[in-house]
Amino acid sequence: MAASVNTRSPGSLETPILNTNEWEYQEHMHHFHYVNNELYCEEVPVTQIATEVGTPFYLYSYATLKMHFHAFDGAFQDIAHLTCFSMKSNSNLAVLRLFALEGGGVDIVSGGELYRALKAGIEPSKIVFSGVGKRSEDLAYALESDILMFNIESSQEIERLDGVARDLGKKARVAIRVNPDVDPATHPYISTGLRENKFGIDIRQAPEQYEMAAKMKNLQVTGVSCHIGSQLTQVDPFVEALRRLLDLVDRLKQSGISIQYLDLGGGLGITYEREAPPHPAEYAKAIKSEVKDKDLVLIFEPGRVIAGNAGILVTQVLYTKSTPEKNFIVVDAAMNDLVRPSLYSSYHAIQPVVERQRGRIKADVVGPICESGDFFAKGRGVDAYEPGDLMAIMSAGAYGFTMASNYNSRPRVAEVMVYGGQYYVVRKRETYEDLIRGEVIPDFMR
Ligand code: LLP
Repeated sequence: MAASVNTRSPGSLETPILNTNEWEYQEHMHHFHYVNNELYCEEVPVTQIATEVGTPFYLYSYATLKMHFHAFDGAFQDIAHLTCFSMKSNSNLAVLRLFALEGGGVDIVSGGELYRALKAGIEPSKIVFSGVGKRSEDLAYALESDILMFNIESSQEIERLDGVARDLGKKARVAIRVNPDVDPATHPYISTGLRENKFGIDIRQAPEQYEMAAKMKNLQVTGVSCHIGSQLTQVDPFVEALRRLLDLVDRLKQSGISIQYLDLGGGLGITYEREAPPHPAEYAKAIKSEVKDKDLVLIFEPGRVIAGNAGILVTQVLYTKSTPEKNFIVVDAAMNDLVRPSLYSSYHAIQPVVERQRGRIKADVVGPICESGDFFAKGRGVDAYEPGDLMAIMSAGAYGFTMASNYNSRPRVAEVMVYGGQYYVVRKRETYEDLIRGEVIPDFMR
């Protein structure tokens, strides 16, 4: 079964407020904006949602997600391609449903992600499966679901998948994820395409691995894939990786292995602070000029560039306090809700939900968790917030909720989606009962 490419599902919903085009993408990168000093998401005041849903919560803009999807996907409309949203960045069912309606696929890395994707109505023929540690159960589940392609990351996985496919009487479509050894010039924790990283198979060893895979009875070699890192702010590393992959495709052809899909992974960055990443159109232009005469279907796995600036985390100020050294603003969200600042020292802009002109101070914005690493900003110039004020932590739509935990027995927060003038709770706030679901005190201790 081949992937249907370049499709727009007839189920696509109207975008409220704005249509999508490049100009709008550049001028209004998202639909979070102020009206009379009040922050709105599309047409809904954020304060209203906070009052009705409570804090903290993640807030996603439907129109922004859709606009970003089409800014990316539309940039490749003149070539055969498939946009597989990288759902590790945001796996809420409503978010995935939106992409399903727009004709998108997903990139998955676990059985759990496959389960979510299918629940959201993503077509199996638009699902690609990456990851260095796929278990036999996961491989079997994906084979039974008839996904488009497995991106294999080791020689043992080739054998494992062949065995699982044989047991099920199926044939698995495979790509080898190669490690092209390109420096993505990003944070070391999110750089994946260097020789020292655990991902993929060294591109120099790839030909022999392809020979091996091609001989397996239950595998059908269909693709080459790579993913070199995340939050890239330049086009060059992508082009360099692509050239190396195209060389490999040529070499494979000479040895009788023909490649249909070329999966370039994700990685395009966004503006958190002052970064100036290329617009998807610029990225697409560079990629397209390399592949124009090739008979290949391109697959992309963008995550952050689509979801990052389409979501915010809304939190309430609990206390403020000053020491002789510092000002602290203690809010009700914490590192368990949004771990990026603690884990990668990531910058997230902090904005008031209601602008009150109280002046500015320099402060650490911190959460209630019992760790000094629990912060959203350090020594940041922010408004002089007071208890009860609402604060928006921006650019939290990617790797926000999906990386949340229950540390300190904190229920995970609600997720809300705005669609025009309406908002919908797309994931309920967890309860204390949710916190202990599945836990058992053994009989002998009763
Ligand atoms: N494809 C593969 C195989 C990946 O491993 C990733 C991300 C993506 C696609 C999507 O990359 P994106 O387009 O979102 O850059 N938690 C980190 C990011 C980790 C990225 C892991 N892989 C963060 O919060 O910055």
